[in-house]
Amino acid sequence: MGRGLDAPDPAMKVIPVDAAHPRGPAIERAAGILRGGGLVAFPTETVYGLGADAMDVKAVGRIFAAKGRPPTNPLIVHLHDAEAAAALAREWPTTAALLAERFWPGPLTLILPKSPEVPNAVTAGLSTVALRVPAHPVARALLQAAEIPVAAPSANPYMAVSPTTAAHVMEGLGDAVDMILDGGPTPVGIESTVVDLSGKRPRLLRPGSISRGEIEALIGPLEMAPPVGAGAPSPSPGMSRRHYSPRARVVFLAKASPAISEDAGALMHSDRRVPARHVLRLPGEPEGYARGLYAALHELDRRACPVVYVEPVPDGPAWEGVRDRLARAANQE
Ligand code: TXA
Ligand code: MG
Repeated sequence: MGRGLDAPDPAMKVIPVDAAHPRGPAIERAAGILRGGGLVAFPTETVYGLGADAMDVKAVGRIFAAKGRPPTNPLIVHLHDAEAAAALAREWPTTAALLAERFWPGPLTLILPKSPEVPNAVTAGLSTVALRVPAHPVARALLQAAEIPVAAPSANPYMAVSPTTAAHVMEGLGDAVDMILDGGPTPVGIESTVVDLSGKRPRLLRPGSISRGEIEALIGPLEMAPPVGAGAPSPSPGMSRRHYSPRARVVFLAKASPAISEDAGALMHSDRRVPARHVLRLPGEPEGYARGLYAALHELDRRACPVVYVEPVPDGPAWEGVRDRLARAANQE
């Protein structure tokens, strides 16, 4: 007997789901795996996450083991709605309520004092917890079906480029995950904006597609995290300056074309010519660029380019998230 689309082979790891209308046995099976302490990779609007039951210390341990991630690097807990998120915070200030109301579900993570029930393994022993209500229909369906908070870092080996497709997840962590929900390429392409609301003043820990300006318009000025490569200590454990790095060495392209090695890669957004063999062009606007960035870096790694030249992106605020990821990718410290 042939299997219908609705009856996926239970032995199969990568299960296609309709990104716009996810439902049926694949979501139920994934929810069951999470409830049973397993690992499920799933699409969010930003990047694919590697999910486990946030309340199950053993399951959380499997995330760290799968990624090779140091236990000092805290995880983001994903919830279906703001009410479930607020239940994991010891305080829910007006700033959190305003941001949640405006941007959730969506690519925003809020850091708040944690409630005692959040395991220390999730927060790397910190007294704060990272909370996010994702917008991707597959993530939402999964969180609704599982009915548990889901800890989920990006589904890539530690320090590597985040996955924006199920194939990226399979390549990096295929052996370690129990199931991958394949909802196609993720629409935003870079990780969520992270805002720390646990201190005296709100602080932007990681820029993303929700811009600093949009957040400041609601809750006032944001303190800055030190710029990448500034040599200052990281404000958040695990916010390593070298992060999001492909295997290739990433070098910003200067005004004058460098003497480029034959098999170099190049990541361009203008029509400037560059004498590299593997030239990939991304859109010249920040949303399209962000959407394509990680797939381009994965592709240049697949082609084994030893070095990738990156055309610098514009200075404007709309490019802040992309600039941050490029600076991290280029930082070899
Ligand atoms: O878009 C995203 O946020 C994706 C998707 C899967 O939701 N997740 C993601 O997770 O990027 P991850 O683990 O790759 O990055 C989480 C970031 C890290 O920089 C971590 O240090 C920071 O959030 N973080 C987590 N908990 C924190 C805390 N309590 N205080 C400060 N930073 C924290
Ligand atoms: Mg990550």
